[in-house]
Amino acid sequence: MLFRQLFDLESSTYTYLLADESTKEAILIDPVLEQVERDLKLLRELGLSLRFCLETHVHADHITGTAKLRKATGCLGIVPAQAQVACADKHIKDGDTLQLGTINIQAIATPGHTDSHMTYYVNRDRLFTGDALFIRGCGRTDFQSGDAGVLFDSVTQRLFTLPDETLVYPGHDYRGHTVSTIGEEKQSNPRFSGRSREEFIEFMGNLNLPNPKKIMEAVPANESCGAT
Ligand SMILES: [Fe+2]
Repeated sequence: MLFRQLFDLESSTYTYLLADESTKEAILIDPVLEQVERDLKLLRELGLSLRFCLETHVHADHITGTAKLRKATGCLGIVPAQAQVACADKHIKDGDTLQLGTINIQAIATPGHTDSHMTYYVNRDRLFTGDALFIRGCGRTDFQSGDAGVLFDSVTQRLFTLPDETLVYPGHDYRGHTVSTIGEEKQSNPRFSGRSREEFIEFMGNLNLPNPKKIMEAVPANESCGAT
């Protein structure tokens, strides 16, 4: 599998490119509107056809590149079931799989950051965890129907039960990390390691973070696949 990790500096968002090297078909996970030209150029340079844009959730901190990429390439926009995104070509629910050549993607429902968040388990060796699990952190739970107790259950029961060597690729990073593993996060993620569900809920309730700068425009735009 061809694999690239791409980064948007302004929103600290990771976009992931996955492609089957023989069929040259590609998937982008969580593309960012401002980076669509970068992504199209890379697809061209690598001789790839974009088939799917896959969202982990409806983002509040940036606008998705899906609408623009769909217009440019004819790819399908795929979003989690229950997300309020009527313009999506396909909704994916817990346990659903997508197959593109040799790439197998399984959706694992990981609500808590938002109520319709999905983690994608690719070829049973790597996870794209969106904002459910960051490297030594996790997404906030104080808006978009977030729920700290639900996030704790998603991470500890759905992700931490996978093999320790499973790679973890998050939706964002703010400290320079790029990849981790389930074993490493179980042991060293300070939000979860040694914390009970009640302690986690209390901690998340006291973060007092400011709202993302783009929340008022990003959420409605993303509910329209990123059409602005
Ligand atoms: Fe998010």
